[in-house]
Amino acid sequence: MPNFYLTTPIYYVNDLPHIGHIYTTVVADTLARYRRLVGDEVYFSTGTDEHGVNILKIAESKGVTPQQQADRVVSRYHDLWRQLGISHSDFIRTTEARHHRAVAEIIRRIEANGDLYLAKHEGWYCASCETFYTEREIGAARMCPVHESPTELQSEENVFFRLSKYQDRLLAWYAQSGSVEPESRRNEVRRFVESGLRDLSVSRANLAWGVPFPGHDGQTVYVWLEALTNYLSVLGFGGDDQTLFETFWQGSESTRVHMVGKDILRFHAVYWPAFLMAAGLPLPTTVYAHGWWLRDDKKISKSVGNAVRLDELLTHFGADPVRYFLLREMAFGQDASFSDEAFVDRFNSDLANDLGNTLSRLVKLSSKAFDGKTPPESCSNNSVKDTAEPAIAAYRDAMEEYAFHKALRSLWRILAEVNQYLVSKEPWKKLKEDIVDDAVSRVLWNGLEGVRLVATGLLPFMPTMAAQVLKAVGVDSENVDAGALAWGGLPLSVPLPEKRTLFPRIDKAAFLAGETKPPVSQAEKEDSNMISIDDFFKIRLEVANVLGAERIPKSRKLIKLEVEVGEERRTVVAGIAEAYEAEELIGKQVVIVTNLEPVKLMGVESQGMVLAASVDGKPVLVHPGAEVPSGTQVR
Ligand code: MSP
Repeated sequence: MPNFYLTTPIYYVNDLPHIGHIYTTVVADTLARYRRLVGDEVYFSTGTDEHGVNILKIAESKGVTPQQQADRVVSRYHDLWRQLGISHSDFIRTTEARHHRAVAEIIRRIEANGDLYLAKHEGWYCASCETFYTEREIGAARMCPVHESPTELQSEENVFFRLSKYQDRLLAWYAQSGSVEPESRRNEVRRFVESGLRDLSVSRANLAWGVPFPGHDGQTVYVWLEALTNYLSVLGFGGDDQTLFETFWQGSESTRVHMVGKDILRFHAVYWPAFLMAAGLPLPTTVYAHGWWLRDDKKISKSVGNAVRLDELLTHFGADPVRYFLLREMAFGQDASFSDEAFVDRFNSDLANDLGNTLSRLVKLSSKAFDGKTPPESCSNNSVKDTAEPAIAAYRDAMEEYAFHKALRSLWRILAEVNQYLVSKEPWKKLKEDIVDDAVSRVLWNGLEGVRLVATGLLPFMPTMAAQVLKAVGVDSENVDAGALAWGGLPLSVPLPEKRTLFPRIDKAAFLAGETKPPVSQAEKEDSNMISIDDFFKIRLEVANVLGAERIPKSRKLIKLEVEVGEERRTVVAGIAEAYEAEELIGKQVVIVTNLEPVKLMGVESQGMVLAASVDGKPVLVHPGAEVPSGTQVR
């Protein structure tokens, strides 16, 4: 089985994730799911880039340690990836010991190859890029070409990497198509390398928050050399178990793809392959640089307040429509603009209308004709098949070329044909007269089979909703493999589940005016971690007065509280002793879950749970904003 290794960039932890980070990760996830569908052994990694001066600065400004800052942002990434259905195999953090080991190992190899030396270094430095620029790149104004902010002249003794030595080998690599994609980006990188490479400083003096440079006290590893090595750390490079590394990086059977935004192409397509050459390691098969998302045609910048309100979209619509929009709207490789209007239009026309309506129409007709089942007769000679077969071939080609928007367009050709076919065959006419013959069976089977193929192709893009569509046409998505991407898979006479609307239309005017909360479809609700208001009300939350408090002997964390909830007295054990003294709690009001099953903790029965915010694992108790009668319900 071919081995497919796929990575996203590792994201900085100085800010919360936004649409750009989501985009690369969703693209990579779609590709990972597709490769699994067609039978590859896939290893898919993502993670966070936690060192460097920017993280130090932001942590200082917030009064936390860089590690605390990183932990906070990382937990947000974990939540978001779960919410978006990202199926990564591992999540690497550059503060992990396994990463430090891998960095030490790659440096050892580069050094053994004679490619490192010490030299004095002076240059124009952009702290946001963590990189030095030449006079030519920054122009007379000395502005960073990426951030358009001032650069600083810096001078220090550093370890240098003989990048210039690799110029010819890099050019030979770009001569192979596929090395850097799309082609326009490959040409851009080639021109940069042809213009001449200078050796690269790969250490920094006096930067406390980084990986110490082996053999050079007081120096840390240049963040890009360090960060790029994550692609090997996650595979165990430099550690005791080399299995993943050998399977997915060294192995001649492996394909290695880095998915990145165009902003970090140079690091991935010039520095990284040169580091790998120096370390005697195989190069990536492909570095793919995609374009940028703009917001309403403007560059996304949080300071201007124009970032996409992702939480809102995800809460209202669920992950899959957002995934679909991102992959359909951007011609992969180019820039695209995110607008609320475009999102609603795509949702209504592609999902609610083309997919949702076609599906529900067919399911309704088939249920009516065949007593709640799929048709009993299949058909191998018809216009839906004639359209679907080349469309599926085009879909597969597009997926191989990372042309995700084209792959989706091909699937939609099938839907268009299914609709035309139904209109021309008019199966409803016979059904109205209660005629259910083989012809009706074949027409409906063909239509449903078209939808089944579309849903199968959609599995990598919209994993939850595509599985729901498959279920709606009588197919269990659990056992779907590459064979399902061929005509003929719709089972005969199997029960169709009860009809429900998978993609309810959005009221565009109301949505754009911000008046209504668009509905989340039933299926998304079931498959996401959202709960209904009724679910929420199952939890009884009440205000309690703390009458007594004492530490539980021999326990580091536990305090026993005697509380009054309305008329009732209860004993509640809380894990707050590391943050609170027992005495200071007496007389306070807290909020308690009063309908939890009792549990025994260190021999004491706890009849409830005290609510506390968890700040880096430390509890901070929740109190009502003003004194209220005990037993007051919280909702
Ligand atoms: N930490 C480095 C990458 C190190 S990889 C060894 C970094 N991190 S980042 O948090 O700034 O993420 C950059 C990546 O996020 C881009 O390469 C791109 O994949 C994605 N995007 C950030 N903003 C984006 C848009 N507006 N549009 C699309 N993707 C963009 O750079």
